[in-house]
Amino acid sequence: MSESGVALQMVGVSKQYPGTLAVDHVDFTVYAGEVHALIGENGAGKSTLMKIIAGSFGDYTGRLMINSREVPLHSPAIAKANGIQMIHQELSLAPPLSIAENVMAGRLPTCGPFLNRAAMLAEARRCLARVGLDLDPETPVEEISQHEAQLVEIAKALGNNPCILVMDEPTSALGRDEVARLFEIIRNLRRQGLAIIYISHHLPEVLEIADRVTVMRDGRRVATEEIRNVTSEQLVEMMVGRSVSNLYAARKAQPGQVRLRVEHLSRYGFFHDVSFDVRAGEVLGIGGLSGAGRSELARSICGIDPIDSGAMTLDGRPLRPASYGAAIRRGLAYLTEDRKTQGLALRMSVAENILAPMIQRHSHGGVYRAGCGTTLLDRLMRLLDVYPPEPRRMVATLSGGNQQKALLAKWLATDPQVLILDEPTRGVDVGAKVILHRAIAEVADQGRCVVLISSDLPELVGLSDRIAIMRRGHFIGEIPRADATEAAVLLAANGEGALVST
Ligand SMILES: Nc1ncnc2c1ncn2[C@@H]1O[C@H](COP(=O)(O)OP(=O)(O)OP(=O)(O)O)[C@@H](O)[C@H]1O
Ligand SMILES: [Mg+2]
Repeated sequence: MSESGVALQMVGVSKQYPGTLAVDHVDFTVYAGEVHALIGENGAGKSTLMKIIAGSFGDYTGRLMINSREVPLHSPAIAKANGIQMIHQELSLAPPLSIAENVMAGRLPTCGPFLNRAAMLAEARRCLARVGLDLDPETPVEEISQHEAQLVEIAKALGNNPCILVMDEPTSALGRDEVARLFEIIRNLRRQGLAIIYISHHLPEVLEIADRVTVMRDGRRVATEEIRNVTSEQLVEMMVGRSVSNLYAARKAQPGQVRLRVEHLSRYGFFHDVSFDVRAGEVLGIGGLSGAGRSELARSICGIDPIDSGAMTLDGRPLRPASYGAAIRRGLAYLTEDRKTQGLALRMSVAENILAPMIQRHSHGGVYRAGCGTTLLDRLMRLLDVYPPEPRRMVATLSGGNQQKALLAKWLATDPQVLILDEPTRGVDVGAKVILHRAIAEVADQGRCVVLISSDLPELVGLSDRIAIMRRGHFIGEIPRADATEAAVLLAANGEGALVST
């Protein structure tokens, strides 16, 4: 393959799902040695286009050429044999298995009829090193963090020596430092002549890492441009067909009395001596680097994980949920950052997913009458613009961004008094983000408490009334709204800059 050779060419490719033409006569060319970004609104057809390349469908139409040779990509095995590797939007690791078994899946080294364990571990270690991970390969995947899992997934793909690597939102679970590390890896792969297709909703990242960009809308390719010829604003316009103002609504309500009080909360090894209050109508942001303990704190507050010491009250009454279910019944809701394994039952319908915790909250062991939730369901699906608006559809058939909207709808349905959000707009496009932000602000405006954990700095700064900074398991101080800028949060999260102590 020459430096400037065509690695992959698609001509007039289409894919029809029952009821949806997800990819509509797309022509798409990727060169060896380039990073080609693929962008578009939620549901535009990006993941579907990439799944075609990965051999997920036997029934696409059109032609696919790899290194100028036509190949019918009708199975994952054919795609793999042609050097195509895909890192899916939703991670595909098997949690109970070890890192090594995951990384080496499908190519475990054997010695006669036996697994060659030493060789497996050595090769796994080598793959992990390529993504800068220094983990024990025998650790079960369920014990590592989400960002580590994302890097393990990349290590696994690289282990198959691909010439075309597809990354579907690879940075959504990564913090800043990890993104920088990933970009280093990507630049390296580009130098080695790999063709990299990079799907992202994060335009600054696209502008930084890509050489060219293709924009999709409603299943069609609307443009392909050299990245140096386009601005972020132009890309947004191509995506949505209009210009979008991403302004954060000015918050109306003045915070009222303290509702949630957290005092000296510790879970050893995760977070220590954390105290804070959240008032009625207030959005408390929690800033910090990934691994600072923010999700762990949220999980303990909601009774998912234990607490070692400390106390909490809600509206003056002691709060110590023995389980997640108990927390939900007290009016807590936690939107997890990990929507696939903890957030949604992918094989169940949108309606069942959205209504499940609401039923749990209100049933109290009694009988729940089917059909009660229909009005609520309609209202929420309309409010959050879940597309397609079909409650009976299986969640797995929604695009990634629309799954995220369904996840927020599910927690809004419980009418929570305390809404804890962990990366609420991950994988959501610019337009949908505005809708979700409005819905979150509305919860606070009704006198509820919102706790917002987000790595999206404009979001954290734009939505929060004040921002607590968490670092290595400790609350190290607070930034009031007036002083909250992206730079201030970033400096504080890194242990620099001035803070109001809590
Ligand atoms: N298995 C499926 N069955 C039916 N329809 C599907 C299925 N998977 C996706 N779709 C539909 O196909 C369209 C394209 O979805 P796709 O997942 O490719 O979007 P996307 O561009 O990756 O969006 P996002 O940014 O939200 O991830 C959407 O309308 C989606 O609802
Ligand atoms: Mg997608």
